[in-house]
Amino acid sequence: MQRLSSAGAIGPGLFGAALVPTMGALHQGHASLIRRALGECPRVVVSIFVNPLQFGPGEDLSRYPRAVEEDLALCQALGVEAVFTPSPEEFYPPGFATRVVPEGCALPLEGERRPGHFSGVATVLVRLFGMLQPARAYFGEKDFQQLQVVRQLVRDLNLPVTVVGCPIVRDQGGLALSSRNRYLSPEQRERARVLYQALQAAQQAFSAGERLASALRARMLEVLTIPEAQVDYAVVVDTELREVPQATRGTHLLVAATLFGIRLIDHLELL
Ligand code: PAF
Repeated sequence: MQRLSSAGAIGPGLFGAALVPTMGALHQGHASLIRRALGECPRVVVSIFVNPLQFGPGEDLSRYPRAVEEDLALCQALGVEAVFTPSPEEFYPPGFATRVVPEGCALPLEGERRPGHFSGVATVLVRLFGMLQPARAYFGEKDFQQLQVVRQLVRDLNLPVTVVGCPIVRDQGGLALSSRNRYLSPEQRERARVLYQALQAAQQAFSAGERLASALRARMLEVLTIPEAQVDYAVVVDTELREVPQATRGTHLLVAATLFGIRLIDHLELL
C-alpha cells in the first residue's frame, strides 16, 4: 500500500480509481465503504484529511479524533492501494483562495446551523477530485444531506465522477457509527441510541399507516425528549432536503441532537 502525503506524490497511475474520502478515525462504517469500493473497482484510494474548512469557529477541529496509524493498518488489511494523508499546509498551500459555495439542498438544516460547513466539504472534494481524478467516490448515508450536496455538486459542475451512497452501519444497539462516537463513554453511547429509536418509532408509525409528516415528526420528538438530549431538529424531507407535508416510501427522516456535549445526526429512509 502506498502512503502519499502530498499532491505531488500522486501519479497518473492512480487516476480512475475509486476514492473513499474520509477524515480518519476510521470505523466499520468506513470499512464498509472501502469494501464496497473494492467490490466495484480494482483500485481503491482512501484520503484521510481533517479538513479545516468544514469546521466552524467553536467546533471540534482541534480535538477531532486522529488515529492515523490504526487507520493505515485497517486500510492495509482491507487491500487499499493507496492512502492520501496530506497536511493542511500541503493541501491548502499559501495563495489558495477559492471556495465552492453550494446552495439548493445545502442551505437548510446542517447548512443553516453550520454556516460554511458545506462550502468546506464541497471545496475539499472538488480539490480531491482534481488531484486524484477518481472514477467513483463513496459516501455514507448517515450524512444524508452531505451525500445529496455532493450529488448536486457533481451534477452542477459536471464532474466526471460517479457518487455512490452506502448504507449506514450501526452498533448492536442501533447507534450509527461515527468518528465522533469516540468522544462518548459506553454508557453515553447507550443513551445516544435514542436517535435511532426516534427514527424507528416514526418508521413504526408509518408502517402502521401514518402518513402525516407532522405526526411522524411529533413521534420522533416524543422519543428524543430525554433530559440528556438537546434536540436540534427532527424532520421529514424529500431528496432535495425540503420538508414534505405527507410521507411516502422513500421519504427521509433526519434527526440531530446534542448529547453529553457531542452533536450527533442520524437518518432513515422510510420503507
Ligand atoms: O464525511 C466526511 O468524513 C467528510 O465530510 C468528507 C466527505 C471526507 C469531506 O471532508
